[in-house]
Amino acid sequence: MNCQPLLQNWTPAQAERMNTAIFVAQHRLHQLELFRDEHLVETLDRHPRRDLGINTMGSDPVRHTDWQEGRAGNLTAEQLLAAAKQGRVWLNLRRVMDHHPEYCELVNQLYEELEATCPGLATYNRSANLLISSPEAIVYYHLDCPVNMLWHLRGSKRVWAYPLEAGLVSDETIEGVLCGEKSEELEFRPEWDELAIAHDLQPGEMITWPQHTPHRVVNTGGVNVSLSTEHMTRQAARRNNVFLANRHFRAVLGGEFRSTELQGWRPGLKEFTLRVMRRIPALAPQPPQGFKYPISFEVDLEAPNCVRPVAESREPKFVPM
Ligand SMILES: [Fe+2]
Repeated sequence: MNCQPLLQNWTPAQAERMNTAIFVAQHRLHQLELFRDEHLVETLDRHPRRDLGINTMGSDPVRHTDWQEGRAGNLTAEQLLAAAKQGRVWLNLRRVMDHHPEYCELVNQLYEELEATCPGLATYNRSANLLISSPEAIVYYHLDCPVNMLWHLRGSKRVWAYPLEAGLVSDETIEGVLCGEKSEELEFRPEWDELAIAHDLQPGEMITWPQHTPHRVVNTGGVNVSLSTEHMTRQAARRNNVFLANRHFRAVLGGEFRSTELQGWRPGLKEFTLRVMRRIPALAPQPPQGFKYPISFEVDLEAPNCVRPVAESREPKFVPM
């Protein structure tokens, strides 16, 4: 347990805004030993490879189809970290709370402090991914289903978040992402940046935004290390269920189920009805599908960008989540 608080300089006014605005605040996770090279190598080494995402990408933010999935081959943890430093590689150590007790403790401490700081916040389904990425890596425009927070630790990156009020993302798109019909990477136009809030994220800063806010990231200096945490709240679950209910009710019952209002008795009834329908096979929606990219490269310290294409490339496919 870290005796000192992990959150720094949060004012009550900030905490109030956390769920409603694109929001940057300070923390001190980057000062912990845990994120130095030797600990990263140790964590990478102990981390099950089935939960290690390895990706590469292009440099044009519009061409999201350049996102590729790779494999580590026989590389050691040390070599993988070296590839992240010198190549164009994105390592995602998924579900670190499940695999590393020290991360479980750390993330729970973070959330306990968050809940103590933000009035009314109650989180569940907490999870965290450790992201280690190359100095010029990017993440394409996309949106996430749970609430997510990016705790930045090393290197620098520019983050663009596109306020939901700008209307860039339709309700049908959110529905499509939630039920897995659409990949989380979405079509993007550079002119949308005028509507975005851009922030140069430094170690010791955390950025978050209201659930379903689309965002994209470009690394701007040094190997980047960040902890991405995700959680649900009752309100976040309701929001997801209202979107899923709208889509399912339109498909099953016809009519215009489009309201995304979250207050009052109607959304509660929608959520309840969806839950009941999930239990009746004839009325249940299809279980969500995940978008699975084919493996198209292997990490190789000798190859350009540390990316060596492999022949067995197949078409991307959707698989049950
Ligand atoms: Fe994201």
